[in-house]
Amino acid sequence: MKIFKEIKKVKDIVRLWRLEDNKIGFVPTMGYLHEGHKSLIERAAAENDKVIVSIYVNPMQFGPKEDLASYPRDLERDAKICEEAGVDVIFHPDNSEMYVPDFCTYVDMSIITEELCGKSRPVHFRGVCTVVAKLFHITSPDRAYFGQKDAQQLAVIRKMVEDLNFDIEVIGCPIVRDQDGLAKSSRNTYLSPEERTSALALNQTLKKARELFWSGINKTDELIKFMKTELEEDSRRKVDYVEIVEPRTMQPIGAVTEKNCCIAIAVWVGKTRLIDNISLDEK
Ligand code: PAJ
Repeated sequence: MKIFKEIKKVKDIVRLWRLEDNKIGFVPTMGYLHEGHKSLIERAAAENDKVIVSIYVNPMQFGPKEDLASYPRDLERDAKICEEAGVDVIFHPDNSEMYVPDFCTYVDMSIITEELCGKSRPVHFRGVCTVVAKLFHITSPDRAYFGQKDAQQLAVIRKMVEDLNFDIEVIGCPIVRDQDGLAKSSRNTYLSPEERTSALALNQTLKKARELFWSGINKTDELIKFMKTELEEDSRRKVDYVEIVEPRTMQPIGAVTEKNCCIAIAVWVGKTRLIDNISLDEK
């Protein structure tokens, strides 16, 4: 396994791989890898001849008051996980490699990015789209792997690939959870033991709402009200949003008619903002 900091080195090796007709799988990450990332990497390794993982904490997708400086990093540990999972190349650029000093070209998406996380994180998806578009150009993969954990991000990337004619198959992978249901996240490391226990309410509330839906309640305002009440029962938690959306466009819906609708939530637990979601057709 090789670790490259330079864009040129990645492009050069990709060119060689292509000459030999290799299929390339790509997994973009911000590092501090956990089982969720690993599931994406392992799937990429199973479905492709070569695998590239990028590890890059992209400043452009963080707002000025967000956790860019404190975002956890551990390249050595990440490299071990990648090596074991069969990665061929880690791309780990510096900021100066990714963004020239007079950088001024952005990928700015409307509609899908205006809901959910886009409301509380106004610059986030512009940063995600811009960096992922750059990473797609650098790695030119056949397939790219994203987690359903970030359901809106997955929808945004699918749309960007469609709108900008990237010749890449976007593969969505299921959410990996701890045994007690908490969705794996690099940000879980910020939680105190009490906060971690409190955070279990995210997945539990989503599952209860799905049960209510299956028992016959299909009005979204009723389901949302129920969830907000449950989530704010503990003063450690503060709801950022609870929405029921159409999964491709992320637009809120009035009544649940399609069973593949997605309930998406963002909740502050102490100073940590966590997201989770569930599809109503999941059993
Ligand atoms: P990061 O948060 O590191 O996540 C990298 C990928 O891992 C994303 O596709 C995310 O959805 C997936 N992932 C995270 N937790 C998961 C879990 N519990 N189960 C399944 N998949 C999970 O998302 C980003 O980085 C960045 O925005 C990025 C796309 C790299 C652009 O900077």
